[in-house]
Amino acid sequence: MRILVTGKNGQLGRSIQKIVNTDTKIGNNQSPNDFIFVGREDLDLSSETSISRYFNNNKFDIIINCAAYTQVDRAEQEAELANQINHLVVKQLGSIASNQRAKLIHISTDYVFDGESNKPYLETDTPNPINAYSRTKLAGEKALQTVMPMNALVIRASWLYSEYGNNFVKTMLKLGKERDELNVIIDQMGSPTYATDLADAILEIIKHKKFRDVAQTTQIYHYSNEGEISWHEFAKEIFKIEKIECEVNPVTSQQYPTPAKRPRNTLMNKDKIVKVFNIKISNWKSSLNACMTILKQKQ
Ligand SMILES: NC(=O)c1ccc[n+]([C@@H]2O[C@H](COP(=O)([O-])OP(=O)(O)OC[C@H]3O[C@@H](n4cnc5c(N)ncnc54)[C@H](OP(=O)(O)O)[C@@H]3O)[C@@H](O)[C@H]2O)c1
Repeated sequence: MRILVTGKNGQLGRSIQKIVNTDTKIGNNQSPNDFIFVGREDLDLSSETSISRYFNNNKFDIIINCAAYTQVDRAEQEAELANQINHLVVKQLGSIASNQRAKLIHISTDYVFDGESNKPYLETDTPNPINAYSRTKLAGEKALQTVMPMNALVIRASWLYSEYGNNFVKTMLKLGKERDELNVIIDQMGSPTYATDLADAILEIIKHKKFRDVAQTTQIYHYSNEGEISWHEFAKEIFKIEKIECEVNPVTSQQYPTPAKRPRNTLMNKDKIVKVFNIKISNWKSSLNACMTILKQKQ
């Protein structure tokens, strides 16, 4: 079994590596040696020819694509680069996986939705992205479904954070220690995703009979932690756990404009992934505590 994981230096890529290297949960018929982790230095996704060359020399059974262009605001200025990584690369990986008869797991985002629904989004709801980043992510999903109608799986995640890289939790911890008060958005609702939980779910899926043994039509699944919160509530909980005395002032998206517009409510319904792959989903507070415990140990 050869399993390729792209984006090895990103939040999700590092979270998968953490589990694979330290855990026995990867399954009886899999070993850490089955996994090949690649970063930009091993496989430059901005070059179509470098991708072709890499896969001409390397064959896989499963490809897990954790690489992406994830700078939501900067994508407004760099739409072409974002499109290359989030759309055209995904299309190319889909064709390669089909040719190699590999299965492919690709990660997308809750931001494919416009956030105007008052109900949790289902996988069957119609996307309507409202910024450049999300348009490229949706284009990637659609291209993958076209070039790889069988054996690919798209997981839409939301508000990803981890002990790695830059994310909301780490930014709040830093700013909260430096300042007496902070303004945080209250009118964008959703659910955070602890990258370790998503990594766990992916590793569960690739062990699952329904993924491994059966040819399936390409499917989309939603995944995040349980619960519905605003960024404001998220920040308050981070400070509460860390006992940081910093006032969190609620502000609206209108009071805090950003280059890229963000959707108002992107809570996703996760019943499908729970039912099909028997995935257990933790509440956002317990996962936040788990991440912050690790961050504390690292200090
Ligand atoms: N972050 C979020 O809040 C969020 C929310 C919903 C969904 N998602 C999705 O979840 C997935 C994982 O996100 P993440 O937060 O783990 O992302 P991340 O931390 O930004 O990691 C993305 C990785 O992709 C790599 N990459 C970018 N351009 C590349 C290129 N040209 N060649 C090779 N590698 C390249 C980056 O490499 P370098 O380290 O060298 O730059 C980085 O390690 C993505 O598909 C993202 O769209 C993220």
